[in-house]
Amino acid sequence: MSFPLVRMRRLRRSEALRRLTRETRLSRDDLVLPLFAVEGARVREPVASMPGVFRLSPDEIAEEAKRVADLGIPAVILFGVPAAKDARGSGADLPHGIAQRAVEAAKRAAPDLCVITDVCLCEYTDHGHCGMVEAGEVANDPSLERLAAAALSHARAGADVVAPSDMMDGRVGAIRRALDANGFAEVAILAYAAKYASAFYGPFREAAESAPAFGDRRGYQMDPPNRREAMREMQLDLEEGADALMVKPALPYLDVLAEARRRFEVPLAAYHVSGEYAMLMAAAERGWIDGSRAMLETLVAIRRAGADFILSYAAKEIAARLEP
Ligand code: PBG
Repeated sequence: MSFPLVRMRRLRRSEALRRLTRETRLSRDDLVLPLFAVEGARVREPVASMPGVFRLSPDEIAEEAKRVADLGIPAVILFGVPAAKDARGSGADLPHGIAQRAVEAAKRAAPDLCVITDVCLCEYTDHGHCGMVEAGEVANDPSLERLAAAALSHARAGADVVAPSDMMDGRVGAIRRALDANGFAEVAILAYAAKYASAFYGPFREAAESAPAFGDRRGYQMDPPNRREAMREMQLDLEEGADALMVKPALPYLDVLAEARRRFEVPLAAYHVSGEYAMLMAAAERGWIDGSRAMLETLVAIRRAGADFILSYAAKEIAARLEP
């Protein structure tokens, strides 16, 4: 059967027909808003390279958490930006560190909101690497204990989900064991399983003050040309006890997402990262694209490729635009 019997345009004629035949839906249920927590009170400091994104003190985190919950967004992911850094990232697992206080503030203000924490050392180390540095190298095994301690401290503060983003080998297993041994068997692990050494993290590193002081992250984050390797990373994280998997960044890695969707029966997340967000916002500011349409189209593409949920700096704006 073909033209003129077949006319594909018949089902595109009205918005009602398009709604009926739409294959992929984006809802507020699919969104997670990243939040940056800094020390202080009443701090709401704009991030220059990410219009609409702020670094917030714990009291402001609480108010933001309430707004997010009121918009019907199910979750936030918190990043702690400490005032002091040292070689071992001591601030990462302090009982009353910045991330831990942000978790408490968010949970107190919005108890039903799912609070995810990013587990990494890069915001807390003076060298800016995601693990412990020994002899000029990021040492894998000594980092595991620090990461597990950080995850455990987040759980103690009330985190529902911990999300390790450091890309050390064995971190998911180390975190699972630490949680289980300390009475947090119910806390879930969302593994940044396929996290690439990407140029698109630039604005985040400004927001989180986490740019490496020497070298780069290519010795632990994945090489962008590799897809098969991403499948191994995901398989390994599942075997170590990950409950859900993440691909990051999102748009340049839709093929990785699509293949992961075919292979794995677990919830799949995608992180539409800072640089991806900044590009759209910058073009929109110049009037070169319709920013809000482009953002929606992008997030739908990420869902179409296979993501169950998306970490997006535009989550609030998008949720406000979507019908309940
Ligand atoms: C921490 C971490 C990074 C991001 C999330 N967790 C930065 C990095 O790996 O350098 C990036 C998020 C973004 O760019 O929006 N390791």
